[in-house]
Amino acid sequence: MLVFAASDKGGTGRSVTSANLAYQRALAGDHVAYVDFDFGSPTAAAVFDVPGAMRGTEEQGLHSYLEGAITEPARIDVWRQTEHPLLRSRPNQSGRLVLFPGDAGGGEFVTDEHALERCVDLLLRLNGEYDLIMVDLSAGRSYAVDMALKATAHPRMRHVPFRWLVFHRWTRQHVIAAAGLVHKDHGIIKGGVDRGHDKEALEGAIRFVRAAVPDPESPLWSHGTPAQAAWMQACDEALRRLAADHGIGDSVVLGVVPLEPILQWREQLITEEDVLATQIANKETLEALEEIARSLTDDSCWGRP
Ligand SMILES: Nc1ncnc2c1ncn2[C@@H]1O[C@H](COP(=O)(O)OP(=O)(O)O)[C@@H](O)[C@H]1O
Ligand SMILES: [Mg+2]
Repeated sequence: MLVFAASDKGGTGRSVTSANLAYQRALAGDHVAYVDFDFGSPTAAAVFDVPGAMRGTEEQGLHSYLEGAITEPARIDVWRQTEHPLLRSRPNQSGRLVLFPGDAGGGEFVTDEHALERCVDLLLRLNGEYDLIMVDLSAGRSYAVDMALKATAHPRMRHVPFRWLVFHRWTRQHVIAAAGLVHKDHGIIKGGVDRGHDKEALEGAIRFVRAAVPDPESPLWSHGTPAQAAWMQACDEALRRLAADHGIGDSVVLGVVPLEPILQWREQLITEEDVLATQIANKETLEALEEIARSLTDDSCWGRP
């Protein structure tokens, strides 16, 4: 299955959350590919702690592949190449976890018909090799989003199941922006229908993930004054109403990732050790990530295919 990770804005938590979802699925035994189609900011390796590729690979990565310079993009075996001390030995029962990085110095580029065909070739090949392919897309209504919509509407891809996760933070601007990315005139649904997708099927394949959401009830925030607590509650409720009014209410939310102090400091994978042994991460964060990872392939969380 293909899972596209999109967001209208940058800094939503899209890459960090989707890398953690990929990690969780690999831990659970799936073979997982993480494809960095965030062309303008090829930084996925930083989350996986892969040295030397923090700003894209120095070898020929996805930019070179899509431009036709090579036939096989560079791949990074995360279990083998990560510097994260706990990940370096591949956990028992885990599946492969492979990162397809962009080129160092690569930027956004207009994707033509040839790039689209290469993209379809790659996704088909990966779909044969991996259980889950997580594709991180450049923010906004980007060329990457467009290519994903065209590729999944392509006749050669008809049999390949796909889903979309749209990430946003829990603020007014982010809620409105995420709703716009999906529902507005040039949004994913309209754009997808123009490229040959069935509207209902595409709508059914899109879910939202609220990232870095402060929980007024959590110990992190409960030390504030009663006035602050009441204000946060009211704000939270207002945001819920706003989201519902914009068509991104609870019924289309796949999950909520709490605000995690570690992730505010450092983009990284959250491990069980971070919660149980060193206790630097919150249990709620890991549980939320595990739950969303499970829900990715739980049909009851998704609309009619
Ligand atoms: N649940 C979270 N709690 C706190 N900070 C987070 C959370 N998720 C992500 N972040 C942080 O927010 C910043 C932006 O996240 P990132 O995944 O790079 O966003 P995007 O890919 O949408 O641009 C990063 O510094 C990241 O570590
Ligand atoms: Mg990112």
